[in-house]
Amino acid sequence: MRLLRDLSLKVRLTLLYVGLFSALLVVLAAGFYLETRHFLIAETASDLQAQIETAVGRWHGGMPLPPPPPAPPGAPSGRPSPSVASQGDLASLVRDVVERGDSAVVVDASGRVLASAGEGAGLAKAWEPCTPKLVPNRATTCLVRLSGERYLVGAMPLGAGGDVLLVGRSLRPVEQVLFRQQLMLGVGVGLLLLFGTLLGFWLTSSALAPLDDMVETCNRIAAGDLSQRVNLPRRNDEIGRLAAAFDHMVDRVEATMEAQQRFVASAAHELRTPLAALQGSMDVLLRDALDDPPTARRLVQGMYREVTRLFRLCDQLLGLSRAHLAESVHRRPVDLSSFFHEFMMQAGFLAQERHLSLQEGDPVTIPVDPDALKRILFNLVDNAVQHTAEGGEIVVGWRESPGGVEIFVKDNGEGIRPEDLPHVFEPFYRGDRSRSRRWGGAGLGLALVKALVEAHGGRVGVSSTPGKGATFTIWLPGE
Ligand SMILES: Nc1ncnc2c1ncn2[C@@H]1O[C@H](COP(=O)(O)OP(=O)(O)OP(=O)(O)O)[C@@H](O)[C@H]1O
Ligand SMILES: [Mg+2]
Repeated sequence: MRLLRDLSLKVRLTLLYVGLFSALLVVLAAGFYLETRHFLIAETASDLQAQIETAVGRWHGGMPLPPPPPAPPGAPSGRPSPSVASQGDLASLVRDVVERGDSAVVVDASGRVLASAGEGAGLAKAWEPCTPKLVPNRATTCLVRLSGERYLVGAMPLGAGGDVLLVGRSLRPVEQVLFRQQLMLGVGVGLLLLFGTLLGFWLTSSALAPLDDMVETCNRIAAGDLSQRVNLPRRNDEIGRLAAAFDHMVDRVEATMEAQQRFVASAAHELRTPLAALQGSMDVLLRDALDDPPTARRLVQGMYREVTRLFRLCDQLLGLSRAHLAESVHRRPVDLSSFFHEFMMQAGFLAQERHLSLQEGDPVTIPVDPDALKRILFNLVDNAVQHTAEGGEIVVGWRESPGGVEIFVKDNGEGIRPEDLPHVFEPFYRGDRSRSRRWGGAGLGLALVKALVEAHGGRVGVSSTPGKGATFTIWLPGE
């Protein structure tokens, strides 16, 4: 069993296939052989029967024999009864019935040989173990072994006296035919098995070859080369689909690794900027500005701003890493009307000179983490404020949507350029870099929004017409 498990899959499949194939072939060949043997012996038997019945009919003068006498014993029959049939009569019957190497014998009820030809004498002995029920006017057959050879013996009673004619026919010709057939079947089955084994091995090898390619590709990927793919020519079987799924998985892994590398590089870059500013200010302070209180104060104020920025950045990075975990959100039923009223009171200070209003939908309660939803809305309103001129309009609200609720934050500010639109949810992406930097954003707000919404099983979307404003929508599931 262990040996079998150590064999390669293609060898195991080939063995299984060859095993089943050979079992099937052997059963078919044996069935065919036995059926032919049965047919040939049955043909020989009916030929022998016909020959005996014709000869005995002729011997009786062309008339069929009457059935065994119901009349008193010794009553005369149409033909000479065996007791009165002469030896010459019986000898002529025996001669008549023998053809092409057959043997014949007539025995009486006590087994005494009355007349014989060929192997006749031995035939009477070989017949003894056969005990078929003899029927008048009909020859009955039995298979016997005589002088090491198989014979088919036909027996027919010669009237009521108990004499029986036995005719034996050697089965050697039949056995020769069967031997030739056995030989042909053996050679045929052998050739078929050889051909089938080679074909089976070739088929399983070519079907499983892509698995070897996949193992090699996996090893190269494990060695660090993520650009490797199986790239199997298009085939729609299980292995083709496995290879396609494998390539797709490696695509995703590569994209994720690249995104992670970009993320780390961007995070390091964002951290480096305030740190460089801090280092510069400290340099100046340490060299000579400590003696100049107004300059020192200005520098420390700048350092304080940079430290605040660093804190915010770290806070956003932490929030983003937590938001990717679905278990970090604690959902509970929240009534959106009361939630939004409370939010509007807290967000009022954000709007500054913009007009912030609430567009209420039908009263609805959805399972959501209220702290996460607040964070999402603060980020969206903060963005809307950053990108809307003073006096602009910002509308926040919700409406029912199939399967859940759609929450929106709409402004009539500068909008988003079409080329920026597909990227705004990527971490560290800032549409108009110079302008965003003025506000000090790292480009993490919308990435955090997306991660939090997806942790709720929801979706985010954005639409915008440059110069006319932007609308961010969040769909959250109702259950
Ligand atoms: N309401 C909006 N109107 C126009 N542009 C927007 C709006 N909201 C987002 N954007 C664009 O999407 C970019 C990404 O926004 P995001 O909130 O992720 O980053 P940020 O606001 O620049 O920085 P952070 O939110 O980290 O402080 C912004 O830089 C801006 O170009
Ligand atoms: Mg933002």
